[in-house]
Amino acid sequence: MMDIESFVSFCKRRGFVYQNSEIYGGFAGFYDYGPIGVEILRNIKNEWWNSIIHQNEEIVGIEGTLITHPKVWKASGHTDEFIDYISECKKCGQSFRADHLILDKTGKKVEGMKSSDLNGLIKKENIKCPTCKGELKNSVEFNLMFKTQIGPGKGETSYLRPETAQLIYLNFKNILDTTRLKIPFGIAQIGKAFRNEISPRNFLFRMREFQQMEMQYFVSEKDADKYFEKWKKSRLKWYKEIGINNKKIRTVEHTKKELAHYAKKAIDIEYKFDFGWKEIEGVHNRGDWDLKQHQKFSNQKLDYFDEKTKKRYIPWIIETSAGLDRIFLAVLMDSYKEETVKGRKRIVLKLHPKIAPYKAAVFPLVKKDRLPKKAKEIYKKIKECFPAFYDEKGSIGKMYRRMDEIGTCYCVTVDHQTLEDNTVTIRERDTMKQKRIDVENITKEIYKNLYS
Ligand code: GAP
Repeated sequence: MMDIESFVSFCKRRGFVYQNSEIYGGFAGFYDYGPIGVEILRNIKNEWWNSIIHQNEEIVGIEGTLITHPKVWKASGHTDEFIDYISECKKCGQSFRADHLILDKTGKKVEGMKSSDLNGLIKKENIKCPTCKGELKNSVEFNLMFKTQIGPGKGETSYLRPETAQLIYLNFKNILDTTRLKIPFGIAQIGKAFRNEISPRNFLFRMREFQQMEMQYFVSEKDADKYFEKWKKSRLKWYKEIGINNKKIRTVEHTKKELAHYAKKAIDIEYKFDFGWKEIEGVHNRGDWDLKQHQKFSNQKLDYFDEKTKKRYIPWIIETSAGLDRIFLAVLMDSYKEETVKGRKRIVLKLHPKIAPYKAAVFPLVKKDRLPKKAKEIYKKIKECFPAFYDEKGSIGKMYRRMDEIGTCYCVTVDHQTLEDNTVTIRERDTMKQKRIDVENITKEIYKNLYS
């Protein structure tokens, strides 16, 4: 277990994640990924894209805009329903998310509760301002979408998208008309989403700008339950495939009260973070709500013609909606290990080889005797096949530790013997076992590890 502050500083030290606008004192709810973090993030995205799109011939990808027609958000329900409740402190003026105040004090989850019930609970439990213990005002509605003005002058008001899903519904007809897909089929997307969270917290867990990996699977009503179960299973399997400890993954079904306005059935996939079990993905049966709403608001037909039955219907949607940054955090926390080796602490990220930022690092044993030249030749050869790293700064021990901390799978050391017989020492990250292999076999060895 590690407290979140120590983890944040580890992530900064090793170039995973930086606080956004740090030189200006930071900007709450916004984070930037550094050179190592961005490699891991891309690997997670690629694994998701591969498992959802490349492995399923009936699923295609899109990349929609961040800002879209304001009517979209009216139709989706976000303009009227995408709200949290805030309670302001009468003394210090700070605002808090009302349901979180209750959760923090009593452990009771109160999602979906109306404002008057929240206020009743705050009074009953005698909940005060967490900062100054002042009295709290009655909670009021707060829409989580970021407003933006389109064009000069008064222009038109729209919003930064709070989810990627709507861009998929908007393109449902385009995809039907321009591909040969037949139900059941899916459309997927990875991209940014924006939510003006009242209290962003737990590092990458609750941000104001984040990324989603969403897939909408269009089915007939009679098949909705079957595909809900199929996608739930498939998504759980994926977490195992990217190396997450499956004892730290569970599913929790939403109660009727917790269901979002669009959902017929929903489960959260949760990861056991150091700060508790928390949602990283949702699998939802959204019924025909979305396409019906867009059909109604756009006056365009969004139904599907079934050639077998010769009937038209509005498809139902099974959605898998994952938070990329939350998965990144889960992957990092899950693989972070502290070990004692020969009386000294070793920090190692035991990342799955597919997720590791570098598959190998190459070092010369010393910075002389033609060893750096030979090491660079070997590094060049490896990086043609895999992301690799070259280092010659510091002792071998220090270079090993640096690579362990960022999860590099193999360290390859070039020494005087290499010049004689073209062999190197290759050290495996998790076991720290070393063996001597022919330079010609390095890429084969790494490849074996990556895909075994
Ligand atoms: N289209 C459905 C939808 O957006 P959601 O449960 O609101 O559903 C899906 O969001 C996922 O997006 C969540 O499971 C979570 O991983 C991620 N997510 C939501 N809000 C987030 C935030 N403020 N910061 C980081 N990730 C967030």
